[in-house]
Amino acid sequence: MDSPTSAKPRHPPKRSRTLAPATALSQQVGGHAGVQTTEDESLLLKPALPREITFYQLVRDIADASTGLHLLKEWIPKFFGVLNLEGKLADPGSGDVDLGGIPTIIPTSDSNSGSNGPSQTLVLENLIHGYRKPCILDVKLGTVLYDEDAPEAKKARMIKTAKETTSFQTGVRLTGFQVYSNFSPDPIAHGKAYGKSLKPEQLHEGIEHFFPCCLSASPESNSAAGLPPDTLLPLLTSVHASLTSLRKALEGAHLRMVGGSVLIVYEGDWERAAASLGHPEECRLYTVALIDFAHTQVVSEGPDRGVLKGMDTLLYLVDKRRKDVAELVANREVQSHA
Ligand SMILES: Nc1ncnc2c1ncn2[C@@H]1O[C@H](COP(=O)(O)OP(=O)(O)OP(=O)(O)O)[C@@H](O)[C@H]1O
Ligand SMILES: [Mg+2]
Repeated sequence: MDSPTSAKPRHPPKRSRTLAPATALSQQVGGHAGVQTTEDESLLLKPALPREITFYQLVRDIADASTGLHLLKEWIPKFFGVLNLEGKLADPGSGDVDLGGIPTIIPTSDSNSGSNGPSQTLVLENLIHGYRKPCILDVKLGTVLYDEDAPEAKKARMIKTAKETTSFQTGVRLTGFQVYSNFSPDPIAHGKAYGKSLKPEQLHEGIEHFFPCCLSASPESNSAAGLPPDTLLPLLTSVHASLTSLRKALEGAHLRMVGGSVLIVYEGDWERAAASLGHPEECRLYTVALIDFAHTQVVSEGPDRGVLKGMDTLLYLVDKRRKDVAELVANREVQSHA
């Protein structure tokens, strides 16, 4: 997995030992409000329910291969522990993370959201740390969007939502995404309404909007989002390869994952993206990870078939995008020689 454009984040974030106040995560594309980062933006603070905390602890502590959970370790954000009320880390994460420099963190009051919401805060690796222009897509996986123990009314509501969106038929829903133009400092956001409005046969349009191809290198004539084709094509090939490996890991894991997502991040800054192809040790081109385990449970048998269906859909869509971009480039070359 430590390939040049690896999906796996590799440099442990540098941290000071001073107090670190938290601020809202500015580049959040999906989910509920309340996710925060430390001031240096290297760590993510997520208010979490016990089930999600248990999942991170299970993966950290896994000693045998019977559940296949160990296969997921390289695909989930590094787990640094759980914040206690004094802002200190309780129950620190696994031995392979550098805990030496973890500061005391002061979460703001809205990270612990009242009597009904989560009362504990997970400290995780911020997967977008280090990107200059992070293009981010949250793809919700699975055909079943409710917990087995949910009240009947909630189950009925979630079945309806799955059927009215792409989830039930394809195992994916585009929860939200943002992309950049190389010529503008601000991201272009697509919220949850867009992904909910798509029909299964329109999903490829969503993927096209997330991986736009910018064919003009002139800032005056083009404010369009996207990478140039010579960076976009290798990116799509690498993302596809990572998703294939992730699917394999999920196939071996005995899980029921409800409402979990694949997060895809790539560098939207042309200079940095091109540099990462030539010097991958200096900056990342992309990251593929699994996030959001608020409703994930370990089971005695077999993978989550709805999640695998979603991975197959996503693999198909990314491959289609790669072929479409290759064709676009080929046609353009033919035209320019005509
Ligand atoms: N480790 C991470 N690094 C960077 N960004 C993240 C990370 N985890 C989550 N995010 C961002 O926060 C958003 C919401 O996260 P997540 O899906 O875990 O929460 P949620 O959907 O609100 O969860 P829950 O179902 O537990 O309420 C994601 O769409 C993504 O933009
Ligand atoms: Mg989510």
